[in-house]
Amino acid sequence: MLVDTHVHLNSKKYRDNLEEVIQRALDNDVETMIVVGYDKETNRLAIELAEKYPFIYATVGFHPTDARYIKVEDYELLVKQLKHKRVVGIGECGLDFYWDKEFIDEQIEVFKRQIELSIQYNKPIIIHMREASEATYNVLSEYKNLKGVMHCYSGSPEMAKFFLDLGLHISLGGPVTFLNGHKPKKVAEMVPLDRLLIETDAPYLSPHPFRGKTNEPARVKLVAEEIARIKKLSYKEIAKQTASNAYKLFNIKEKV
Ligand code: NI
Repeated sequence: MLVDTHVHLNSKKYRDNLEEVIQRALDNDVETMIVVGYDKETNRLAIELAEKYPFIYATVGFHPTDARYIKVEDYELLVKQLKHKRVVGIGECGLDFYWDKEFIDEQIEVFKRQIELSIQYNKPIIIHMREASEATYNVLSEYKNLKGVMHCYSGSPEMAKFFLDLGLHISLGGPVTFLNGHKPKKVAEMVPLDRLLIETDAPYLSPHPFRGKTNEPARVKLVAEEIARIKKLSYKEIAKQTASNAYKLFNIKEKV
């Protein structure tokens, strides 16, 4: 019933308990997980997991904080991986001026390359944006026919409107459950139901009441429950609609 559209089961954090973490997700209504890569190693691992489990799909990309290290041949490998039948998107990529204020030109360059690949290969783009709302919007608005998602969106509701106007989806994660998560709660209120996705970004950003602990995909349920409360809909409606949105965006055959 639930799709966790952004989870890093390819993280070292799950080296010792991956099977348990996956089982707990399945026991908590999660039917599909999209494992997101962010560098060469995690891209490879995401594909490996997607080949092993029928309910896991992969995405491949280069994170903005690594932008300065990306070489020409890295894109060649990325394109090859993009053509893999279990790879459903490109990213995460984007702009991050919180962790890296120094290599902004490199970040923009690597982001643009991935946007162009997203359009060329018709795979949705997974966008990471941290303290870079305006710059991210400026880059994206140079393109037409965008398909993708603002992952774990942390910008303002006003900016969310602009990203929606570009044709993008908005994905919310753990922060929407935080007691002081006023901004994401407002975003949850305003995003139209047919453009909304949910995620955990696990092992990061554990929802309330597990804030600060290692996150896991089972907890996407807490995200769905909080959004249901905010939008005054049932948990089931949120689960069903966000799953259907995810299947459509990532071109995955819907489970029935
Ligand atoms: Ni992530």
